[in-house]
Amino acid sequence: MSSQNEIRRITAPEIHARKNGEPIVALTSYHAHTAGLLDQYVDVILVGDSLGMVMHGLETTVPVTLDMMILQGRAVMRGSKRALVVVDMPFGSYEESREQAFRSCARVLKETHCGAIKLEGGARMAETIRFLVERGVPVMAHIGMTPQSINTLGSFRARGRDEAEWDKFLADAHAVADAGAFSVVVEAVAEPLAKRITEEIAIPTIGIGASAACDGQILVLEDMLGLSQRVPKFVKRFGELAGHIEGAVKAYADEVRSRKFPGPEHVYPLKRKT
Ligand code: KIV
Repeated sequence: MSSQNEIRRITAPEIHARKNGEPIVALTSYHAHTAGLLDQYVDVILVGDSLGMVMHGLETTVPVTLDMMILQGRAVMRGSKRALVVVDMPFGSYEESREQAFRSCARVLKETHCGAIKLEGGARMAETIRFLVERGVPVMAHIGMTPQSINTLGSFRARGRDEAEWDKFLADAHAVADAGAFSVVVEAVAEPLAKRITEEIAIPTIGIGASAACDGQILVLEDMLGLSQRVPKFVKRFGELAGHIEGAVKAYADEVRSRKFPGPEHVYPLKRKT
């Protein structure tokens, strides 16, 4: 039975309805503890495949597996109550066919209980997006610089700085919106292009290194907290956690080495024989 005080999760249709409305606040999280901290401040928590680089020290997101995404998706669902949790589909789990995509997405929805999935690709993924949405899978699309294609793109540089490139990205944006995606991440594209995409399509754009003109923003949590060693140039740091962690670890190591580390006696004193 549900209680009246139960916190209800934000849904994909509610995010869709935010087009031209209150800006959508999104961040990544891969763990129950950070998800719990973000939950009351963000609308969307993305369990991004960036976890491969951020958590596992991989060079790219390409080696990330479906099992890794499901494991961390479950943790984030356990740690949060309110935000819409979106789980990224990793490279190789959805591109082969619409059927492969549905099978992988169904696993993610069933095993994590998340509210939506995200996949990379514009016009080339439109048919798959339509197939998924018609079968009950809410899809957040991802266009612009798509990190899973790093081996064909050659670099993580921003796209659309040359106006001659714009038609392709505008076509991608229209294709995913027409196919039924409830929102679209626009990554690392020149500001005027992001603005034009946002003005032209009927679904919310969520920018990362794109533009303040987007309908919302997303950042990788560890990047904005100052925990990541290498971050894209567009990332604004809202914290310097690496320094805090190093300071705390050094203080601990110093106490242990100087034998000043408090023993258990101050917590549960021994009863001495009288
Ligand atoms: O994997 C990820 O964290 C992402 C964001 C950068 C949008 O896709």
